[in-house]
Amino acid sequence: MKKPKFITLEGIDGAGKSTHLAWLENCLRARGVPVMITREPGGTPLGERLREILLNHPMEAETETLLMFAARKEHIAKVILPALQRGKWVISDRFSDASFAYQGGGRGVPAERLEILERWVHQELQPDLTLFFDVPVEIARQRLASNKSFDRFEKEQAEFFQRVREAYLRRAQQFPQRFRVINANRPREVVKKELEDTITSYCL
Ligand code: TYD
Repeated sequence: MKKPKFITLEGIDGAGKSTHLAWLENCLRARGVPVMITREPGGTPLGERLREILLNHPMEAETETLLMFAARKEHIAKVILPALQRGKWVISDRFSDASFAYQGGGRGVPAERLEILERWVHQELQPDLTLFFDVPVEIARQRLASNKSFDRFEKEQAEFFQRVREAYLRRAQQFPQRFRVINANRPREVVKKELEDTITSYCL
């Protein structure tokens, strides 16, 4: 059996990540791959409590960063590594690239601080594949507009999301081996096909 993979999904709010995640899960299951779906912030009972706080409670940018990585430590230790060891493929709806994009790009937390936390919390772990679903900020804002009540991040202005998107694109340039940038500003079937082709050629 092939070594189980750790796949992460990223995108600015409104990029359509939930839909893409469902496609990815179906695509892998249809090929008989044992998958486990999880998310950040969250993924553990403590992580989900931290998520509730992170999404709703105002705080300093560095407090936000530390809580993201605290939740991540639990997630890696209690969920991600054990699942990979059991032979499951792990798909996480967001991971550390989101901290570099939102806390780094969006909030201006220096990259060196994030890198220290990343080394501390990840140890050797990095995603095998990161799918970044890219859409222009205006499109993402339109998609969000019909949404329920907004959380603390979704309430941010367009300029914030512009910085987040640019930080994601910089990460993709910095780590071209594991990143795939998928243009999600196209008809659904086209995006779906590219996702399936990417998974087929990369993982199977
Ligand atoms: P999101 O993944 O968009 O969930 P939903 O689709 O349910 O709204 O929400 C999580 C939010 O957390 C998102 O706005 C990005 C933010 N976030 C960070 O700022 N830093 C991080 O490290 C992570 C994992 C998420």
